[in-house]
Amino acid sequence: MRFFLDTADVREIETGLEWGMVDGITTNPSLIAKQGKPYLPTVKEIAELVDGPVSGEVLATDYEGMLAEARKLAALADNVVVKVPLSPAGLRAVRTLKAEGIPTNVTLCFSANQALLAAKAGAAYISPFVGRVDDVGWDGMELIEQVVTIYDNYAFDTEVLVASIRHPLHVAQSALLGAHVATIPFKVLEKLYRHPLTDRGLEAFLDDWRATGKGFDD
Ligand code: E4P
Repeated sequence: MRFFLDTADVREIETGLEWGMVDGITTNPSLIAKQGKPYLPTVKEIAELVDGPVSGEVLATDYEGMLAEARKLAALADNVVVKVPLSPAGLRAVRTLKAEGIPTNVTLCFSANQALLAAKAGAAYISPFVGRVDDVGWDGMELIEQVVTIYDNYAFDTEVLVASIRHPLHVAQSALLGAHVATIPFKVLEKLYRHPLTDRGLEAFLDDWRATGKGFDD
């Protein structure tokens, strides 16, 4: 399973890269706005830092506008994936961009039918937002199960990129369901490492050895 970091914060990306756990990045307009930096240069800076796919989202909502912005995003670096919202115009743009060799990530997916449409349009990735589905009282992971099953049934190439991840359980459940990618906020990535028994166990090992009064090389 590939892990993308869901962030536009360069310090978080650098740390994730040091840990060797970052296979790509997803950004969105809200995440870039939080950095207080200009839009396209931020996507470019991130794409230069990371070897894997970096999703940068269009801001336009009409077909021509999305195409124009998508081409600018794709020209920033070879690893840029253009994020397009799920709408008739968006999926029309996905089809055109695919014909031009520009990969897309269809965002703001909240239903199995939306995911089916994105795959039929030729999206490289579909981003179902599990946390936001949970927020309105539905089951985000059930949506992932449906999308994985549908894509398997018809051997679609579109990869399931689980988005809007809020906690470690979302990551483990995505992996159990066979999702291709999880895009993870940095604070959740940190939590994946933690377990109280790991901390307690390490403390006990080191205490026991310290009690001998000897060092590592003794
Ligand atoms: C995914 O690509 C989105 O940027 C992101 O996962 C949205 O997450 P949120 O619902 O926490 O804003």
